[in-house]
Order: sequence, then C-alpha cells, then structure tokens
Amino acid sequence: MKFTKTIEVKNIFNKISYKYDFLNNLLSFGLHRLWKRKLVNLLKPVNGEDWADLCCGTGDLAFLISKRVSPSGSITGIDSAEDILNIAKKKAEIKKNKFVKWEIKDVLEIDDYSKNYDGICMSYGLRNLNNVEEGIKKVFYLLNDKGRAGFLDFNHSTKNSLSNVFQKLYLRYIVVTISRLFNLSPEYAYIEKSIRNFPKKNELIRIARKVGFKKAEYRTIWGGQMGILILAK
Ligand SMILES: C[S@@+](CC[C@H](N)C(=O)[O-])C[C@H]1O[C@@H](n2cnc3c(N)ncnc32)[C@H](O)[C@@H]1O
Repeated sequence: MKFTKTIEVKNIFNKISYKYDFLNNLLSFGLHRLWKRKLVNLLKPVNGEDWADLCCGTGDLAFLISKRVSPSGSITGIDSAEDILNIAKKKAEIKKNKFVKWEIKDVLEIDDYSKNYDGICMSYGLRNLNNVEEGIKKVFYLLNDKGRAGFLDFNHSTKNSLSNVFQKLYLRYIVVTISRLFNLSPEYAYIEKSIRNFPKKNELIRIARKVGFKKAEYRTIWGGQMGILILAK
C-alpha cells in the first residue's frame, strides 16, 4: 500500500508539472508566494547556514532561502518527481541561480545524515508523504542539534467549521472546475482527499514532540485555510 501511494503521488506531480506554477498562481490568487515568504521569515535562515527544501517542487522556497544563506551556506531542493524538478532547474537557469543544488529523491528514502542541516523547510509536501510521522522523524534526524524546521500546508480544520466548509467548497468547485479546463481535475481533486487524511494541528504537535522536537508551534494563516508548523530541537 505504501508503495502504491508513493507512485500515485509521483505520477500526479509529474503529470501536473507543466501547469503547476501557473495553476498555483491562479488558484491561490498569487497568495502562495506571501505564505511561503511568511514561512521563510519565521525560520530566519542566515548566511552560512545549510538548508534543505524537501518536496521542493518547482523550487519557490529554495529560491527564497538561497537569497538568505548565500554566499557561504547552501540550499538543496529535493523532490521525487523528475518532471517538476526539471521545471525548478529551468527556473534556476532563468533566474541565473547556480547556488541551489537539486536532488531527485524520495524524502522518506534519504539515508545520508552527514549533512547536519541547520534548517529544513517543506511547503505542501508533508501531506503528500506516505507517512507523516516518518516524514517528521526524517526531518528530525537530518537536522543538527540546534536545527529548526518549518512546514507550510493546508490546515485541516475542524469538521463543519466555517473555514472547513469554505475550504471544501473552494477545493471542489473552484480548484477542480478550473483544473478541468486543463484536463487535470482528477489530480487536483486529490488535494481534498489528502487534507482529509492529514493530521490536525494538535496531532501534528503531538507527533513532533514524540519524535523529539523540543519546540513545536502551529499557527493558522489566511482565516484558517493554511497552517504553519515550526519545530526546533
Ligand atoms: C504540492 S507540491 C509542493 C511543491 C512546492 N514545495 C511548493 O510549495 O510549491 C508537492 C511536492 O512534493 C513532492 N513529493 C511528494 N511526495 C514526495 C516524496 N515522498 N519525496 C519527495 N518529494 C515528494 C511532489 O513531487 C511535489 O513536487
């Protein structure tokens, strides 16, 4: 079963890769850029630090972080879907950014712990992993003793709350309808399903503490639609 979800997710992101940035901008009214900036501001990466952007997709967070950690640090964008990573590489060429390193890899299969990252970030990735707890545990072991991590994703709000109802309607009737114009509706319908299976705020905090993080804070943004989980050792 685990294997099936990994392949399914990889196929989804390879398939939507060519429209990913376009639809992200359209469907979030460009707001995803603000949310990503907010995550980076909370994490405060500084020059000289080594960072990883896991599930980097087309590399938005990696590019933001590269501005903060260069010239002495490093940032590696890691993703399992080759097509979406190729878009990230093309964007790097256009931006003339040779600083970000790219790696194709399933996050849960990373086995090189020698990097001792100062920081790890993930936007809209945790929810897609086969196992959220394994993902948080992986991040814990990849960080050095003072490491910190931040995750931006949809907030799984309380059932039937206003924010929950809005989220469902938005995903079903706006996201799926618009993505249908590009023959991508089954792929975008996956978002609602993945949020349903994603732990809620308190559960994410519980998992992070169980894994060993001393600091685990969660804040909702944009009227409870999105959530940011900040962890530190
Ligand atoms: C919704 S996209 C987010 C991309 C980017 N972080 C952003 O915010 O725009 C999720 C990304 O996670 C990647 N992904 C999903 N499961 C993964 C895994 N197990 N290992 C590495 N990447 C994974 C997908 O290929 C996809 O690029």
